[in-house]
Amino acid sequence: KKISIIGVPMDLGQTRRGVDMGPSAIRYAGVVERLERLNYEIEDLGDIQIGRAEREQDSPVHLKLRNLKAVAEANEKLAAIVDEVVQKGHFPLVLGGDHSIAIGTLAGVAKHYENLGVIWYDAHGDLNTAETSPSGNIHGMSLAVSLGFGHPALTMIGGYSPKVKPENIVIIGARSLDEGEKQLIKEKGIKVYTMHEVDRLGMTTVMEETIAYLKERTDGVHLSLDLDGLDPHDAPGVGTPVIGGLTYRESHLAMEMLAEAQIITSAEFVEVNPILDERNKTASTAVALMGSLFGEKLV
Ligand code: ARG
Ligand code: MN
Ligand code: MN
Ligand code: MN
Repeated sequence: KKISIIGVPMDLGQTRRGVDMGPSAIRYAGVVERLERLNYEIEDLGDIQIGRAEREQDSPVHLKLRNLKAVAEANEKLAAIVDEVVQKGHFPLVLGGDHSIAIGTLAGVAKHYENLGVIWYDAHGDLNTAETSPSGNIHGMSLAVSLGFGHPALTMIGGYSPKVKPENIVIIGARSLDEGEKQLIKEKGIKVYTMHEVDRLGMTTVMEETIAYLKERTDGVHLSLDLDGLDPHDAPGVGTPVIGGLTYRESHLAMEMLAEAQIITSAEFVEVNPILDERNKTASTAVALMGSLFGEKLV
């Protein structure tokens, strides 16, 4: 059992600085030691280099797709590294960085599967395109891009598109969806457990259903966990917090059920911003959740 850790100090997919320090904060919170204790062999590949984006501020495309070029370049690099990791049979564990990096992670992973499943654990859908985005921030577009919707500089990363099919996606924790995102969800029949469903059904049922749903139609499942899926009380160090989120306990339960089901084949933990955090609480929570995801047990 070997895990390769890839840090992606990306902050160009949104406008709040500091999320580029996410990988450091997560390492500082002890990710390597935590997973080694579970008898995994850990290979830390360090951080990928993110280019500068200063020049892009004056380009007309910048308002609708901020830092497009630099975001695309970084994701091409990430895709190549993740691809190699999967090829050598290791589990890719990607540390963000803002959620735009899911574009590269999925580009590297998806080609190795016929039907890659995706669990998008997030307050948001990240299903915007340049046309529907209220912000122009690419971190709010990464799932749409992976479905094949968006600028070709993003959708074609890794040289192919789409990376995932709408029916292989499950979104959990949604509570802030833009109009265009709601439309896309309806149009494509994407499975979503909003906070309403989580409250009604309870996390146990949500995860049982999610696991059963993905088991019958996918040959691998990527977990894309945005820390803002959690309530800001439990994960304050995020750039786009939304109240009324998933609790620390619900999130651990979700991770434990995924560990038990043994369906997760790659994962990323994103949007940890130590500048906005309280004493590295959010990074620590991320590491604790990784512990559960990789099989940590109390007794
Ligand atoms: N929907 C909003 C937007 O498109 C917020 C996206 C937040 N995404 C995230 N990965 N935190 O700008
Ligand atoms: Mn090896
Ligand atoms: Mn989010
Ligand atoms: Mn997100």
